Amino acid sequence: MTTTIPKAVSEKVGRNLHNQENHPIKIVKDRIFSFFKDCGGFRFPERLDPIVEVENNFDKLLIPSNHVSRSPSDTYYVSQDMSRVLRTHMTAEMVPLVTSGNYNYITCGDVYRKDAIDSTHYPVFHQIEGFMSQGNPSHGDISVEESLRIHLHGLIKHLFGDTVKYRFMEEKDHPECSFPFTYNSLEVEVTLTLPDGTEKAIEVLGAGTVQPRIMEACGLSGKSAWAFGMGLERLAMLFYGIPDIRLFWSTDHRFLSQFKEGDFSSKFQPFSSLPACYKDVAFWLGDKGKFTYNDFCNIIKEECEEDIVEEVILKDTFTNGKTGKVSECYRIVYRHPSRTLSNEEINTVQDNIRNRLEKELDVTLR
Ligand code: PHE
Repeated sequence: MTTTIPKAVSEKVGRNLHNQENHPIKIVKDRIFSFFKDCGGFRFPERLDPIVEVENNFDKLLIPSNHVSRSPSDTYYVSQDMSRVLRTHMTAEMVPLVTSGNYNYITCGDVYRKDAIDSTHYPVFHQIEGFMSQGNPSHGDISVEESLRIHLHGLIKHLFGDTVKYRFMEEKDHPECSFPFTYNSLEVEVTLTLPDGTEKAIEVLGAGTVQPRIMEACGLSGKSAWAFGMGLERLAMLFYGIPDIRLFWSTDHRFLSQFKEGDFSSKFQPFSSLPACYKDVAFWLGDKGKFTYNDFCNIIKEECEEDIVEEVILKDTFTNGKTGKVSECYRIVYRHPSRTLSNEEINTVQDNIRNRLEKELDVTLR
């Protein structure tokens, strides 16, 4: 068990891109907030400290004790006693927000997950979460379920235009679209036509009716509420054609100067296409089943002072017929978003990664 957090991750705490003027994440957030401002009846509280109690991130949300998201390979635990984590979703703020009197809110914040390294995954990203309880005048006489769907239809059209192609994937037809903290859950899938004419379906949000036990824990027994949560990075990448999620963290003016509050029509102009450098690493997995891809990625993040790894791809895997041992080969793609990397720099990092792999993840390098 490790409670050390890679520097590249810990230094993101407090950056609050969602509150940085003219940052694409803030622009997308404002656009979503403006929809709910027009609806009326919502507050917009923000809890900026991403370190939260495990109770609020998991237990009180009825996330089972054996749920994968609780594993230290998925979640950054920040205290030795495992009682606190970097929040993995904004739902972690539901119980604190509601118990402190916010019965109808839209909130936004940074969330943290150990994950793959590629152009659309980053250990820190931003989510908007909404919560609305019965009693808000804009529910009127309709059920919470109906209210949720009306708000979501409106939000999707507000974001993507009236002619957007999308569907609600209801839990009853798609059992995978469920969350422990809601029932009658659903995911919204939007299908977009890319500039090259191909279609791409993306899941943009999860939602549902909040479980009665959580309402009880919030002091709202007998009432019902809906909630939804959505990530901002993927939306911003789509709207602006931003190719690499790491760019959001750039302080380079060539990136930041390209976005203006309220402007959605501009397309991102790439300013660097530096060559990538590939390094492969192959190894036999040990018998203890200790190796996980996420832990491997986390070691890479810890060994890189900056975001110099663009992608980690499984190239090849096979089982030795005689010994039953499994071999895996990964390609690590090195490329800094805006400066050239030296061979020396890459080799040092690569050597450190190789050493730690053998020591910590029970593999034998080949
Ligand atoms: N917390 C969920 C996620 O991160 C999203 C969600 C929020 C789903 C609220 C339902 C209700 O994926």
